[in-house]
Amino acid sequence: MSRFFVTTPIYYVKDAPHVGHAYTTVNADALARWHRLIGDDVFFLTGTDEHGQKVARAAEEQGLDPLAWTDQMSPRFAEAWAGLDVANDDFIRTTEPRHRASVERFLSAIYDNGYIFKDSYRGLYCVGCERYYATDELVDGNLCPDHRTPVEELEEENYFFRLSAFEDRLVEWYAANPGIVVPESKRNEALSFIKGGLKDISITRTSIDWGVRVPWDDEHVFYVWYDALINYVTAIGYGEDPERFDEWWPSVHHIIGKEIIRFHCVWWPAMCMAAGIEPPAHVQVHGWLLLGGDKMSNSSVNRITPASLTEEYGVDPVRYHLLRDIPLGSDGEFSAEGISSRYNSDLANNLGNLLSRVTTVVGSKCGGVGPVPDPSSRLADVAGTVVADAVAGWGASRPDLGLEATWRLIRETNAELEIAEPWKAEPGPGVDAVLGSALEVLRIVAILIVPAMPATAREMWRRIGLEGTPEEQRLPEAGSWGRYPGGLTVEKGAPLFPRRKD
Ligand code: MSP
Repeated sequence: MSRFFVTTPIYYVKDAPHVGHAYTTVNADALARWHRLIGDDVFFLTGTDEHGQKVARAAEEQGLDPLAWTDQMSPRFAEAWAGLDVANDDFIRTTEPRHRASVERFLSAIYDNGYIFKDSYRGLYCVGCERYYATDELVDGNLCPDHRTPVEELEEENYFFRLSAFEDRLVEWYAANPGIVVPESKRNEALSFIKGGLKDISITRTSIDWGVRVPWDDEHVFYVWYDALINYVTAIGYGEDPERFDEWWPSVHHIIGKEIIRFHCVWWPAMCMAAGIEPPAHVQVHGWLLLGGDKMSNSSVNRITPASLTEEYGVDPVRYHLLRDIPLGSDGEFSAEGISSRYNSDLANNLGNLLSRVTTVVGSKCGGVGPVPDPSSRLADVAGTVVADAVAGWGASRPDLGLEATWRLIRETNAELEIAEPWKAEPGPGVDAVLGSALEVLRIVAILIVPAMPATAREMWRRIGLEGTPEEQRLPEAGSWGRYPGGLTVEKGAPLFPRRKD
């Protein structure tokens, strides 16, 4: 059996989640659901990144100790994902004991393998910022650009990771595995950074204590990124359950935003090599959700929360918009007009209209009992091509392409109904054939939209009288023409997507 271990970045708990975070999580959820649909064994991991200075400072501003703060904030992410119908299998918090133990094991392995050494670090430090600055970042000679106070020359003993030792190995690894980082432009970005020369990096701090202590020297705390990346192996039992780890690690798919390429495509593979495990098998880099041309972020004036959108449009329309309109890999502008027009065109006018006209006419012309599909319907060929294209699109981690193919089938079926006009015809075999085929399309569409709109898919399935759930079906077999059995009670319900006036 194939496995699919999909991860999102673990999010900082500095602030509540916004739609930018939701973009990654919904894509990961949709891909996880797609892989379940094609029969893969899936493990979907997300979580929160709770150590480091940023979080400690946010807690301090609230007058709380860091753990009390993260205990408050982390559930807001879990709740936001539940509110978007995200079905993750695990939710990791870096403050959990299982994670601390795993970080200690992982970094001790690197230390034992000789890739961590102690050295002194000398630099220009701003106490207000608690960070070092390079000379060219300073203003008026020696002032911190933020505080406008003089920086101090400071020397600190730090542990360093010998990243430079992995330059050649990383280049070889990229050459041997061309598809590891997608899209290709991002792979090239990572590779050219490596080829530009890698410097050893400082991985511990003595100036902060909100983090995982270095097991062999408890005056030091690991820098937050080292701790964070290791979450991916913690969750599958690294160092604790080797069998489970070996089962899942080879099929890992990291999904990340483009601003954290270096961490995931340079540091992380090198860390894995240094610890003696295989580097990650797949990194999918995506673009940003933009608001007025800028990256949506915690500091954006108009950061948008997932809940405000789902209240306005409904959960499935929000998921559909995120998946359909911003192809994985590209940036995309987020706007109320964009989501509304997609809602009206694809959901109200196409999918909703198809479901409601078919169930209505089955009610008026077939006594509410669904007829069997016509084996020679032209739609059988369309459905065959569409299922193949959807499989290819989703298989290439392009939900937009999978959905675009699916909507071709919906549009063709609406067009076919407009030509046949079964609502005007006398009941009989002709009308039955047309409606049976339209019901068969609804059955296939319900399966194909499971990853994007799980609740809508279930409701369609129920209304056309089918037993069980569309999630239980397995593609590609379940997508073949002629499986709608006929003789089922079809229910005409309220419109799933009432047209919006805005
Ligand atoms: N904690 C680190 C990640 C550690 S992973 C080992 C971090 N956290 S974050 O809270 O800043 O989240 C970053 C991720 O959130 C991005 O990589 C991306 O997946 C998602 N996004 C945040 N804003 C986004 C947009 N405006 N658009 C798309 N994705 C966005 O970095």
